[in-house]
Amino acid sequence: MLTLGVLASIAGVAIALAIDWFPQSASTQAKKVDSLWDIVLVISVPIFILVLVVVLFCVWKFRQRPGEELKDGPPIHGNTQLEVVWTAIPALLLVGLCSYTFFVLDEIEQKDPDELVVNVTGEQFTWTFAYPSVRAGGKPLASSQLYLPKDRPIRFNVRTKDVLHDFWVPQFRMKIDAVPGITTQVRVTPDTVGRYPVVCAELCGVGHATMRQVAHVVEPGEFQRWVRSRQRPAGGAAAGGGGGQAAADGRAIFTGAAGCGGCHTLAAAGTSGQTGPKLDQVLKGEDKAFIRESIVNPGAKIAKGFGPNIMPENFGQTLTPQELNALVDYLSKETQG
Ligand code: CUA
Repeated sequence: MLTLGVLASIAGVAIALAIDWFPQSASTQAKKVDSLWDIVLVISVPIFILVLVVVLFCVWKFRQRPGEELKDGPPIHGNTQLEVVWTAIPALLLVGLCSYTFFVLDEIEQKDPDELVVNVTGEQFTWTFAYPSVRAGGKPLASSQLYLPKDRPIRFNVRTKDVLHDFWVPQFRMKIDAVPGITTQVRVTPDTVGRYPVVCAELCGVGHATMRQVAHVVEPGEFQRWVRSRQRPAGGAAAGGGGGQAAADGRAIFTGAAGCGGCHTLAAAGTSGQTGPKLDQVLKGEDKAFIRESIVNPGAKIAKGFGPNIMPENFGQTLTPQELNALVDYLSKETQG
């Protein structure tokens, strides 16, 4: 029985470690969380399999045979030695695992004097990211895109304007609820360049599934370039570039930066979102002023069949004036044909 249990445990641990449980890891915290997970597996899988093997073996070995229906087993009044062992071993395992978990948690929540603060605001159904240490036009730089310099410790201060949301980047392995009335914090040091999804992990209403943005982890130099591009004063790019250029940008903003396609169907952009009105229908015959108002002040005129407060009201702040112009031009061009 023991031999069988040990062999099955070895196979179980091998299978458990071979399974690719998590997406790519992209932060120093993720590495520690993944090691913790592996160690918990190595300790708990053999116990699970041992117990299972013993139970199944006993069911088979000591099953009731024909003619034994009235037989009773020997009376047993306990075994102090056995009870001490089966209490002590799980207690030691639990204390050991809890201590290890505590140290890992303490380590991944370490403060760092060099940390970059990013204020994250959730609302139905979008995230806004603000950098209080970076000024743009007299205000903290705000964006609907999350840019993070590689290898810099980040402190996210997470708030919500309405209901519960949850700020989560699976590749960072860290997540935290956005709770009405308080500010929650989570620390991450991204260590792998890439684009990762920012996901809302708390059911928050009809658009919950579309509450997704992109976290860009970039080299520090590129982060500075992105900051400078966001700080450029309004109107600089509007003069240059032909109509074709603006249309190309507008499409990228529609499908990417602003994420409009997650909620809206627009044939030209190939998007099929159902949370908001179909733009090919509701923008047909409307002028640019109407389109602009619908983006920056979505509550002003609401399309038939849709409730208020579904579309985020912060696009006027998170899009630069150039981006907004490009988006309006693009939508106007694609829906008036
Ligand atoms: Cu916000 Cu789910």
